[in-house]
Amino acid sequence: MARLSGKTALITGGARGIGAAIARAYLREGAQVMVADLSQAMVSEAAAKMGCHGVQMDVTRQDSIDAAMAHAVARMGGIDILVNNAGVYDLAPIVDITRSSYDKLFAVNVAGTLFTLQAAARQMLAQGRGGRIINLASQAGRRGEPLGAVYCATKAAVISLTQSAGLNLIRDGISVNAIAPGVIESDMWDHVDALFAAAEGLPVGEKKRRVGAAVPFGRFGTADEVAGMAVFLASDEAAYITAQTYGVDGGNWIA
Ligand SMILES: NC(=O)c1ccc[n+]([C@@H]2O[C@H](COP(=O)([O-])OP(=O)(O)OC[C@H]3O[C@@H](n4cnc5c(N)ncnc54)[C@H](O)[C@@H]3O)[C@@H](O)[C@H]2O)c1
Repeated sequence: MARLSGKTALITGGARGIGAAIARAYLREGAQVMVADLSQAMVSEAAAKMGCHGVQMDVTRQDSIDAAMAHAVARMGGIDILVNNAGVYDLAPIVDITRSSYDKLFAVNVAGTLFTLQAAARQMLAQGRGGRIINLASQAGRRGEPLGAVYCATKAAVISLTQSAGLNLIRDGISVNAIAPGVIESDMWDHVDALFAAAEGLPVGEKKRRVGAAVPFGRFGTADEVAGMAVFLASDEAAYITAQTYGVDGGNWIA
């Protein structure tokens, strides 16, 4: 029996990468899914390919969050599951961090996560049947990195928001949990590799090769491997779990 049949899910940043893998997994488990992403072209292509709903959404803008929520409710009849997956990365030594990089990362990764969570929680409270909120944190939120101060701080904030929101909404039947992926094959990691190549004078691909070899499991993870945790956290099996952050990282962080 499909584990999410009858459920409706909105997935931010769902047009590619981890978000798209979660969308495919939720569809396989019987949920109605709406992927939300920055550009209408990305959304239309992804939604057509996967056979799901789509909506253009910028999580840094409140009017866009409100419009996407309204669209999701109108098309799917409600929202039972929110996956707060949209995220951006940047790196710089402490002395070179710019205000614009800081503002962008906090706007997407922290404010975007909080105010999308807030809008979904309001909708779930109005529906009166509980709900599941799943935030994409990162191993980067568990400890600092020499060049990743701002990204790490945003993901530490996601872990903290998950704890507070989980405790705040627990009596309303809304659980809030986070996933902390390690290093996962995606467009984001190709961008990370290019930034490291420039910052450390490495050939393109070399940082990725070294990082993958250093994972205790011996390789990068796949987006589908992260999606498995997102299915579990949205399913009835996770009913008693809230305010937690789970690593999906091939043993990387603990090592
Ligand atoms: N790939 C990894 O190794 C890794 C590791 C740890 C955590 N994560 C986190 O997982 C999540 C997904 O990562 P990914 O690797 O699939 O990245 P990705 O860059 O492939 O996908 C991110 C998606 O978010 C969308 N997005 C960016 N800004 C947005 C905005 N303002 N509004 C709406 N959508 C926006 C992008 O268009 C893109 O489709 C992110 O939160 C990321 O920080 C990724």
